[in-house]
Amino acid sequence: MRVLGIETSCDETGVALFDSATNALVHALHSQVKLHSAYGGVVPELASRDHVRNLAPLIRDVLDRAGCERRDIDAIAVTAGPGLAGALLVGCGVAGAMGYALHKPVVAVHHLEGHVLSPLLTASPPSFPFVCLLVSGGHTQLLHVRAPGQYVLLGETLDDAAGEAFDKTAQMLGLGYPGGPEVSRLAQFGIAGALRLPRPMMDSGTLDVSFSGLKTAVSNVVRRAGNLCEQVRADIAREFVDALVEVLTAKCLLALERTQLSQLVVAGGVGANVQLRSSLDAALASRGGRVFYPPAELCTDNGAMIAYAGYVRLTQLGECTEAASAVPLKVRPRWDLCDLQGGSLSSPTERRTVGA
Ligand code: KG4
Ligand code: ZN
Repeated sequence: MRVLGIETSCDETGVALFDSATNALVHALHSQVKLHSAYGGVVPELASRDHVRNLAPLIRDVLDRAGCERRDIDAIAVTAGPGLAGALLVGCGVAGAMGYALHKPVVAVHHLEGHVLSPLLTASPPSFPFVCLLVSGGHTQLLHVRAPGQYVLLGETLDDAAGEAFDKTAQMLGLGYPGGPEVSRLAQFGIAGALRLPRPMMDSGTLDVSFSGLKTAVSNVVRRAGNLCEQVRADIAREFVDALVEVLTAKCLLALERTQLSQLVVAGGVGANVQLRSSLDAALASRGGRVFYPPAELCTDNGAMIAYAGYVRLTQLGECTEAASAVPLKVRPRWDLCDLQGGSLSSPTERRTVGA
């Protein structure tokens, strides 16, 4: 089965073709980082317009590189939420029109399900069940993943997401957008323990986290320091990363202990962070567990994870396989991952509502 994946939920236009017969994956990405960097964050209207400009050429490029025509596509998977409404509408509009014209099914994919399942695209994937730490720009959640489509929320951020905390810290330190990679790079020059920031909710006994206090603490340090020299900026970045990584590592260990599981999957943009990876690898290795990551280029938003999640929904979860109708797909800018259901749990009509 060949599934075309389309991702336009935020600031990356991603397209991929997943071929289940060969496990071949061809994908293309257009990042809007340059477009938004002047504003220090994503400007929704600019994002939508840029998706309009880039989506069709990316689809053409992916099909050319895969040696396929449009008629060779068996199904189309598209991110229907959560995300920016206008940006989602671009992907869903194009996917719906293609599905209708080609008489192929269109699967509405939850963006976070794409992230959660993305480590299954590696040569040595985790097996179900596992704990997933989902750390992106908009979400920080710990999930018990029992099977595809069956997600139990164990804990989440009470305020800022981890990626948001990285991006805001970057802004305070005068670094570019997106802030995660820049803060991570600068932190490598910082001296450990040169200053002390809080480890919020470290000993709360729950699996929830909170990063807004950490952000405020960074802001206070920056204000007090006045003119920041390069070393002080690096020291702040180092302590911020150490604090955030320590908290996330402790919560992952607690989640594994409570679920009695030994496999941890880390997904979402912040999962690309080298400090977080080395801390989790070391912590799990010392307990006989194992951490799984998506392929490096699939940590941040991309079309491949959407194509794959769509394929799983169609083949394992009984998602509707009828050709798309002329009725436009609904976008769901706010959409709780735990509202999703596995195919065996709901009727086709319900599934259509859940997924569309
Ligand atoms: O998953 P993602 O691409 O988009 C969302 O669905 O939100 O995540 C983007 C977030 C941004 O906040 C970005 O700063 C962060 O992931 N990020 C990183 C790194 N690479 C991306 N944060 C820390 N270290 C990184 N290497
Ligand atoms: Zn994402």
